[in-house]
Amino acid sequence: MATAGKVIKCRAAIAWEPNAPLVIEEIEVAPPQEGEIRIKIVASSLCHTELYHLFEAKDKQGFPTVLGHEGAGVVESVGPGVTDFKPGDKVIPLSVSQCGECRFCKCPKTNQCDRNWINKYVDFMSYPTTRFTCRGQPILQFTSTGTFSEYIVMNQISVAKIHDDAPLDRVCLLGCGVATGYGAAVNTAGVTPGSVCAVFGLGAVGLAAVMGCKNAGASRIFAVDINEQKFEKAKVFGATDFLNPKAYNKPISEVLAEMTNGGVDFSLECVGNPEVMLISGKTWKGTLLGGFKVKDSIPKLVQDYMAGKIKVDEFITHKMDLEEINDAINLMKTGQCIRCILNISK
Ligand SMILES: NC(=O)c1ccc[n+]([C@@H]2O[C@H](COP(=O)([O-])OP(=O)(O)OC[C@H]3O[C@@H](n4cnc5c(N)ncnc54)[C@H](O)[C@@H]3O)[C@@H](O)[C@H]2O)c1
Ligand SMILES: [Zn+2]
Ligand SMILES: [Zn+2]
Repeated sequence: MATAGKVIKCRAAIAWEPNAPLVIEEIEVAPPQEGEIRIKIVASSLCHTELYHLFEAKDKQGFPTVLGHEGAGVVESVGPGVTDFKPGDKVIPLSVSQCGECRFCKCPKTNQCDRNWINKYVDFMSYPTTRFTCRGQPILQFTSTGTFSEYIVMNQISVAKIHDDAPLDRVCLLGCGVATGYGAAVNTAGVTPGSVCAVFGLGAVGLAAVMGCKNAGASRIFAVDINEQKFEKAKVFGATDFLNPKAYNKPISEVLAEMTNGGVDFSLECVGNPEVMLISGKTWKGTLLGGFKVKDSIPKLVQDYMAGKIKVDEFITHKMDLEEINDAINLMKTGQCIRCILNISK
């Protein structure tokens, strides 16, 4: 490609500081270095994790940054030593790595790649450093991705190569929220056939958890949310019972216990609120991207979607251009959307 080896100037939405609207700016994206690939991002969605960073950051650490970690695109160029990718490949960049060499990557029980924790969550920079600058200033890549930019540079250990026919403006959702919720049910919780499940929080993560419970053969799936507008969608994904905790004058755990002869078999917290979690005498697990080993599993999820085995289109409630990103943020903040797909590159 004509741009290979050169700095690319392109548009990106920059979060200059917490609690402020994002600003569309021209940024420079450096060429990929050893083991890295530069990707043209076609579409990206917005996940609730972005809202935490933008609105609940305690200080300015982690800014200025380009948010976005549910994207999909096409490889523009590759750096030295990259053998698994070539220009033109369709890919999903991921906020989780799979180096294939560390003790965790070699263990079938976990997706906690060692390389995932080097640098990244300390300074929110990409691994090993950001490739973005704007007016001479380095701009971070949130969770090492930064998909609200037309071009990004990623280490190849955090990129999944997907099917050539995959629709990028849909499968981008498999880069975080949908894979997280689905994997939380089928991998982390290991929902069993005939079981009774409860899913708390019916955003994309929770709805995908409902889908996972249903595909794993659960007999009854309670969908719990304080926003009753979410119940209709939950039904689409397979929920059988719908509860609004605000409609009861006792804890929702007691309501569930009464309705299920002592309690559910699997309970999935998909709100992000520790107060929702009830742990007495129970086994309690956390999940990172649904426990999926990303480079192996995300391409398979794309193929499951293309074969009609899992739903993805049903999560999409809105589509917008990158310029409208602040409207998309507001929709999610006010609970009006499940997922909004942003057209990133024209
Ligand atoms: N572990 C991971 O790898 C990972 C990945 C993606 C997202 N997340 C986290 O998952 C959470 C959900 O993400 P999302 O994008 O689906 O968010 P979302 O905002 O779309 O959905 C959250 C839902 O929770 C509901 N809710 C809020 N308070 C509630 C309460 N007290 N009881 C019941 N329901 C309540 C809201 O009405 C909303 O429907 C966030 O905390 C996000 O940061 C984690
Ligand atoms: Zn690893
Ligand atoms: Zn996310």
